[in-house]
Formats: sequence, C-alpha cells, structure tokens
Amino acid sequence: MTEFITLRKPDDFHLHVRDDEVLKCVLPHVARYFKRAMIMPNLSPPVSNIEMALDYKRRIGDAVQNLDFNPKMTLYLTPFTKPEDIKAARNEDSVIAMKYYPAGATTNSEYGVRDIYQCRKVLDEMQKIGLPLSIHGEIVDPDIDVFDREQVFVDTILSKLVADFPQLKIILEHVSTIEGVQFVEETGDNVAATITAHHMLLNRNHMLLNGIKSYLFCFPILKSEKHRKAVLKAAVSGNKKFFLGTDSAPHEIAKKTGLVNAGGIYSSFNALPIYIELFKQQNALEKFEAFSSQFGADFYRLDHNEERIKLERQQVEIPEVLTINQLQLIPLKSGETINWRLVDSETEFSVP
Ligand code: DOR
Ligand code: ZN
Repeated sequence: MTEFITLRKPDDFHLHVRDDEVLKCVLPHVARYFKRAMIMPNLSPPVSNIEMALDYKRRIGDAVQNLDFNPKMTLYLTPFTKPEDIKAARNEDSVIAMKYYPAGATTNSEYGVRDIYQCRKVLDEMQKIGLPLSIHGEIVDPDIDVFDREQVFVDTILSKLVADFPQLKIILEHVSTIEGVQFVEETGDNVAATITAHHMLLNRNHMLLNGIKSYLFCFPILKSEKHRKAVLKAAVSGNKKFFLGTDSAPHEIAKKTGLVNAGGIYSSFNALPIYIELFKQQNALEKFEAFSSQFGADFYRLDHNEERIKLERQQVEIPEVLTINQLQLIPLKSGETINWRLVDSETEFSVP
C-alpha cells in the first residue's frame, strides 16, 4: 500500500538563492516544498542594510512570479554595522535576523567580522529589541584543523557570546558536531540551531572515499560518523531548539568540478524528501512536521503556515546534473534515488 505524508508547508530557515539568473533557476525548486525561507545575505557586495535587503526581496519577488513563496530577509553583519541599522530593522517585518560570518569562513565572507566584540553596541541593540543573530559557527584560523573549526568556535566564541549577551537570540546555523549539538541542548531557549539534510545524511567518508566528490564539499565540512549521528539524533529528538535549514548553496558546475572548488551543496531540489526519509528511518516521522514547519517559525515568532503539502513514498531518480536554462547544478544525491515525491498536482514537478 502506498504510504503518504501530509504536512503543514515547511519553512527553510537557512537558504542561499544568489541573484539574477541563478535566482530565477533555483526558486521554483524552493517553492515546491517551502512556503518561506530565510535568505542568506552573502552576495557581493553583501546585503548589509535595510535598503539593500528590501531591494533584494523585490528581486526575489520578481523572480518568484506566480510561485507561492515568501522570503524572509537577513542583514549581513559587517564591522561597519551600526546600532541605527538595527533600530531601522525593528520596523521591517521581512527582516528577521542578522547574519554573522567570521571573516574568511566561507563564500563571500570577506566582508564579515574578525572580532565579534567590535560589534558590542550592535549586539546590545539586537538583544534589546529581540533581533536574532544567525551564526556561521566556525573559527577562521589556519592553525585550526578544518574538521575542528565548529568545536573550537563553540568553545571559544559562542560560549562567551552566550554568557555576555544572555538574552540575545542566537542560531548556530548548520550544526555539524557533537559539541555544537550539546552546547545548544545545554543553553537556554534563546539559543537554537538549524540542521541541514546533508549533515544528517552524510559523513566525510561519503565525500572522500571511492573518488573525491567535490560537490559534497561544503562549510561546515562533513564530519565523521559519530558527529553525523549526533546531528541526526538532535533533529529527530523533538527538541524545539533544532529546526530545518537546508543551507542549499548553488554553485554552477564549473565552480564545483574545477581544480579549486567552492564550498556549498545544492539541495533545494530534493532536501525535503531526504529529511522525511531520514525521519522515517529513525521511526520519528510523527516528529517531522514540528521540525520542518513549527519550531523555526516559533523561534522567529512567525505564524505557522496554513498551506499543506502531500508526498507519497515512491522512488524518484535524481539526475547527476540539473540543467536549468543555461545553468548546470549538481544536486544532493546526484545520480541516486530518493523515496518521496510530491503528489499535489498543482505543485507537481517535472525533473528538468
Ligand atoms: O558550504 C557553504 N556554502 N557554506 C556556507 O556557509 C556558505 C555557502 C555558500 O554561500 O556558498
Ligand atoms: Zn549558508
């Protein structure tokens, strides 16, 4: 008998959609599964003030056309961000967080902050008005091993931030380690984490054995199996501090298969069915809707979506490469199969 799942339409609380042509190509994939997404601001130049965020939101709106999708914006925290920028954000419902990239951590992070304590006044203001800080939690130091970057960040920077700004709402994005998970579990309700499908699904062996797969190269880098298990366990635990954020990060194929490659996994195409299958494997399907459609909205004080989506358990082949107009992207689970497909005919999607 065919198995179905119907749920409140999910939100993606960590998403890169880029701009221009790429934006147009990826949004239909996003909007099939997600009603809202928190859009990352790491364009070049970065989306660092309200005007830029509203402009970017307008461009996303133009690209959305007849899709049912509501973007929520973030501002890029730079050394030049002022408390006044935070005050201005208070009156703008569509801006829901500041994004902190340690300078040098990942794509377009060179505009980021070297010492977060330079932003003390900005953080004070955020704490005061309740604007959350979304954190790329990796230390940037060539002496720190790439696999230890999250753990060292948690031990040295995050723990201090949480102690010094006890009311500040903080999201440890794309948590990828035991230490990150434990930290979030042990701190107050003002601290939460997003979890990607790829950090739940894959460990570093998947990337490095049987031929290096550079399309699985991302930040934070995939970790060993014990870390993957901790992330998976946190996601299916039913703890409201852990919620869905894909960190889908499209890079055209040339930037993923060259001599030097960019970090980022493209998962908007199929992350949702992958998450669902992982919850099913853990006998936790009944907890999925809260993870995908409630906990994140609650943390950001947004209403729950009214729309519902329905999927059936059926195998779907994932192409090795997606070709959309002129753009070629390598999807998560490239050339493999997934086990769920949307059944709602209006949102039915044909593989490009
Ligand atoms: O792998 C990643 N890619 N991690 C990030 O944090 C950023 C992202 C991107 O924008 O390419
Ligand atoms: Zn990201």
